[in-house]
Amino acid sequence: MALGTCRTVLITGCSRGIGLGLVQEFLTRSPTPDLVIATCRHPDQAQELQQLKEHHQHLRILQLDILCEDSIKKVVQEVEVLVGEQGLNCLINNAGINRLATLESVTAKDMLTIYETNTVAQLMVSKAFLPLLRKAACQDAVMGIHRAAIINVSSQTASMQLFFQNKKSQEVYPYRISKTALNMITCCLAADLISDGILCISLHPGWIKTDMGGSKAPLQLKEAIPAILNVLANLREKDHGAFLDWKGEVIPW
Ligand SMILES: NC(=O)c1ccc[n+]([C@@H]2O[C@H](COP(=O)([O-])OP(=O)(O)OC[C@H]3O[C@@H](n4cnc5c(N)ncnc54)[C@H](OP(=O)(O)O)[C@@H]3O)[C@@H](O)[C@H]2O)c1
Repeated sequence: MALGTCRTVLITGCSRGIGLGLVQEFLTRSPTPDLVIATCRHPDQAQELQQLKEHHQHLRILQLDILCEDSIKKVVQEVEVLVGEQGLNCLINNAGINRLATLESVTAKDMLTIYETNTVAQLMVSKAFLPLLRKAACQDAVMGIHRAAIINVSSQTASMQLFFQNKKSQEVYPYRISKTALNMITCCLAADLISDGILCISLHPGWIKTDMGGSKAPLQLKEAIPAILNVLANLREKDHGAFLDWKGEVIPW
């Protein structure tokens, strides 16, 4: 599946896992974006990501800690120089954390730490990139990642409706609550940004074997990531404000 004319894509949390997988896939798909901007907290330590630079001239690796206001400001300035008047087509808010906590073990600190990364920081990153997304949105009329899009990487465990079907809290109080709040961010952004033509969705990437997903996860990155890119490539106005999974199926909120 082609990626249309998505010229520029920026992904957060690319040192490993799904973020790294998305970067690899964007770089090898045809047509490849003009610029794949991979951000991570510690570029010097992201060896696999750095190795990709040897073979892919259109990869840029930039430092971004999504919790740090100065880091966000700096990366926006750097990206502005890279993308120029064409703006940024697609922002993928992928960086995230998890910490297992049951009702008995959960602490206020756990809740706030995860909320800060998985929810607050995602909104702040999107907000900071809005001027560049708006620039890109002005240059096309059909919604999609070729125009301007914010993809919030969420989780199926955040679905309230699916929760009511099996009513199991699992050991993930802070995580799933933070992602439910992230989903509300998607809804609010979708309402506010429809007039700009910036497409917004929440995406469940599938339960994938990564440091976070763990070894019991049924999916390998090599299976899920190409499917995710198919979903992204096909996003249109009908998907605006939706919660989709890695196969493009709608997940109930
Ligand atoms: N794997 C799954 O089964 C699954 C299922 C549903 C949803 N998700 C979601 O998919 C996304 C990626 O998950 P993953 O499985 O790839 O997790 P992972 O292997 O643990 O990787 C997480 C990534 O996020 C980065 N990160 C964490 N905090 C950051 C910060 N403050 N600033 C910048 N980067 C930060 C990490 O960077 P460092 O290397 O610097 O720590 C790492 O690159 C997450 O949002 C996760 O919630 C995953």
